[in-house]
Amino acid sequence: MAKPIPIEVWNPSGKYRVVSTKSMPGTRWIRLLTDNDCRLEVCTEQKTILSVDDILALIGDRCDGVIGQLTEDWGDVLFSALKRAGGTAFSNMAVGYNNVDVVAANRNGIAVGNTPGVLTETTAELAASLTLSAARRIVEADQFMRAGLYDGWLPHLFVGNLLKGQTVGVIGAGRIGSAYARMMIEGFKMNLIYYDLYQATRLEKFVTAYGQFLKANGEEPVTWERAATMEDVLREADVISLHPVLDKTTYHLINPERLAIMKKDAVLVNASRGPVIDEVALVEHLKANPMFRVGLDVFEDEPYMKPGLADMKNAVVVPHIASASKWTREGMATLTALNVLGKIKGYPVWGNPNQVEPFLDENSTPPRACPSIVNAKQLGW
Ligand code: DGY
Repeated sequence: MAKPIPIEVWNPSGKYRVVSTKSMPGTRWIRLLTDNDCRLEVCTEQKTILSVDDILALIGDRCDGVIGQLTEDWGDVLFSALKRAGGTAFSNMAVGYNNVDVVAANRNGIAVGNTPGVLTETTAELAASLTLSAARRIVEADQFMRAGLYDGWLPHLFVGNLLKGQTVGVIGAGRIGSAYARMMIEGFKMNLIYYDLYQATRLEKFVTAYGQFLKANGEEPVTWERAATMEDVLREADVISLHPVLDKTTYHLINPERLAIMKKDAVLVNASRGPVIDEVALVEHLKANPMFRVGLDVFEDEPYMKPGLADMKNAVVVPHIASASKWTREGMATLTALNVLGKIKGYPVWGNPNQVEPFLDENSTPPRACPSIVNAKQLGW
């Protein structure tokens, strides 16, 4: 017989059974559920990535809703099990939901929630941190110091790239891409070139206004350009940050051909999803171009890195922590709980998933709505 999955139970006599496949930061999300007649079961299994069988065991034969994680494979097997258990709600603790088969959720009548809005700035800040770390070789220099190798100032020691006045390229100028672009433009007076299927009008207006402000102050104005092709961005930019969603069209968006047209000393940053880059090709490119640098938060086969990547001094690698600020992670937990609770209670969907602040205010009761349900329309909501 399969080993039972350990859980922690909150409000055992609650009417609705909600399962969270992981413990999440903060306590507000727990209170919101237990104050609203939910029995909450939080999985305490020590292994990081739960299998489909583990989650099936957690769902059991009666379950109203599940809060899950981006490391889990939410497809027909889990959604049909949730439906059989009487469930109607699932929320991913992430803005991205490439781990979720939404068509399968639709088939089973399960609402799929995600957590937009709350992680925009936090994620953009991490992408900016990776940019700086890679451009100024912070990790290499830190390792050098700790190894006791520093024996005095030298003209050639850890020479990197100046960002001011250079061009930042953004692929995917949605919420996070635009926030990142603003940080690099405001912080380092970089010029912008971006590629997106949609025009980033607010971003363009910001760069124009900021450029005018700089000019009025006797400084070089910043500029923007919306590129006709992604290749234009890759050719022209000194720093390129990737912010597309992962789908069939963006899988291996950065491939050997596209790496080859980038500047030899460019900085490439990825805090979106790993498979957007052909990681094997990237390792070869890093080997052949020691001045080319990369900052990665995400990997093609997480939690693994492709062979050779860990040895590359021109790569800065961190373990998918772009949204990991306390405020954001607690906010993400709150949004997931409210997505599931709202569906169970029959609340409507919130009008603007980009403006979720009313749900995050610790001192007030959240609106009676689901903050963000990605398949609301398909479910006829
Ligand atoms: C997301 O939300 O999609 C991030 O990758 C995790 O924070």
